[in-house]
Amino acid sequence: MSRKTFRRGIAAVGVAALTAGMTAGITAGMAGTASGAAATLAGAAEQSGRYFGAAISAGKLGDAQYTTIAGREFGMVTPENELKIDATEPVQNQFSFARADAVVDWATARGKRVRGHTLAWHSQQPAWMQSLSGTALRTAMVNHINGVMARYQGRIHAWDVVNEAFDDGTGGRRDSNLQRTGDDWIEVAFRTARAADPAARLCYNDYNIENWTWAKTRAVYNLVKDFRARGVPIDCVGLQAHVNSGSPYDPNFRTTLSSFAALGVDVQITELDVAGASPGTYAAIVTDCLAVPRCTGISVWGVRDTDSWRAWETPLLFDGSGAPKPAYTAVLNALNAGTPGPGPTPTPTPPPGTAGCRVTYATSAWNTGLTADITIANTGTTPVSGWRLAFTLPGGQAITSGWNAAYAPARGAVTATDLGYNAAIPPAGSTAIGFQATHTGDTARPASFTLNGTACAVG
Ligand code: G3I
Repeated sequence: MSRKTFRRGIAAVGVAALTAGMTAGITAGMAGTASGAAATLAGAAEQSGRYFGAAISAGKLGDAQYTTIAGREFGMVTPENELKIDATEPVQNQFSFARADAVVDWATARGKRVRGHTLAWHSQQPAWMQSLSGTALRTAMVNHINGVMARYQGRIHAWDVVNEAFDDGTGGRRDSNLQRTGDDWIEVAFRTARAADPAARLCYNDYNIENWTWAKTRAVYNLVKDFRARGVPIDCVGLQAHVNSGSPYDPNFRTTLSSFAALGVDVQITELDVAGASPGTYAAIVTDCLAVPRCTGISVWGVRDTDSWRAWETPLLFDGSGAPKPAYTAVLNALNAGTPGPGPTPTPTPPPGTAGCRVTYATSAWNTGLTADITIANTGTTPVSGWRLAFTLPGGQAITSGWNAAYAPARGAVTATDLGYNAAIPPAGSTAIGFQATHTGDTARPASFTLNGTACAVG
């Protein structure tokens, strides 16, 4: 009997081992058998350097059956709704982390890692964000990413930075308020995220990108390819894998996984559920992941069927009474049959940052006076902390008062300096300043602007 056949044979009695394990109170990753085959999903996945995880809800952490299964079986936790925008910033600039903390703390106290879901998404936006557009929305998105990532810096293994940005049928971008701020919103989100937590892996996450022949899959592939070519920071692609009659499993899934991986990113199956929970389909999906070295982990979207967002489809690995289903055994066996993977992926090294700025300058003038409204945008990849904006006023203009900056001297070659409270401008962020001045006829704006020694684009 070969080693693999032997391991499969042991794993086939996984349900019996599991039942014994429940009694013994075993924990994820420790549940081995004499043969080396693991008796939990997390433990079996770990054998090839991968994780097996699940979406976990704060509201169910008081359910002992739920936490017993989750504590034992899963090594990666995705808060199901608690890190979404409506949960973490229900009122603009008032962040709320109690429910997210409940899940993150539950996971980390048990040695589990956390996948953050999600920072920029057209759905589950709070009402204040739904009503924003243009620059205000773009700024709010950047502010949200910075606020949430700062809170969890160093505690989130991977972030779904952007979720579901592509359209199902056309393969184009999905129309949304975020998309209407400009095509570069995804890029800005990723650059912001890298600066906010350089140690976190940054993922693009979507559904219906499992089938290699689908236009949406190719569109996301092209986005990732473009990002990799241009040095836009991206480390991973999450394929949700909600399998049902409209999105059936296709064996070309393995080609999709390996094609994305060939772009130099990790791939993960992030929200797996299968309508009807066919053991064969579950096993095929797991085996596809195991066949691709950069497929580093699998998460199911819930614990028991009754916890699923599609409960009526009974799509998960445990039934409503907490008993493992045939699909559970199929997944466990497939994981135990896996070959060793590449081991943990090294933490990404952020590329050296670049400085960049754009100044918009609007004047409104009357016979002897003018007002200048200036916006300084950080278009680079490194945060600005403390700034000086240098420009030369046309002859005859003299600043009489200003706001949000100190201006000196009043005429000629002027330097505007931050006032401390507005010293920080994150990548893709901006700050607004302005002044009033007298003039003698020439109301033109300065010809050029320099921010901390870097020449800025104007307009
Ligand atoms: O918590 C409230 C409860 O107080 C209220 O009484 C009830 C009334 O409807 O709503 C409850 O909130 C619901 C929440 O789930 C928690 O159960 C929301 O209405 C409901 O919209 C929300 O659904 C979530 C859905 O995303 C929203 O888009 C699902 O739980 C969640 O599983 C699902 O997850 C998404 C991923 O984020 C992205 N990929 C697809 C996946 C499935 O849709």
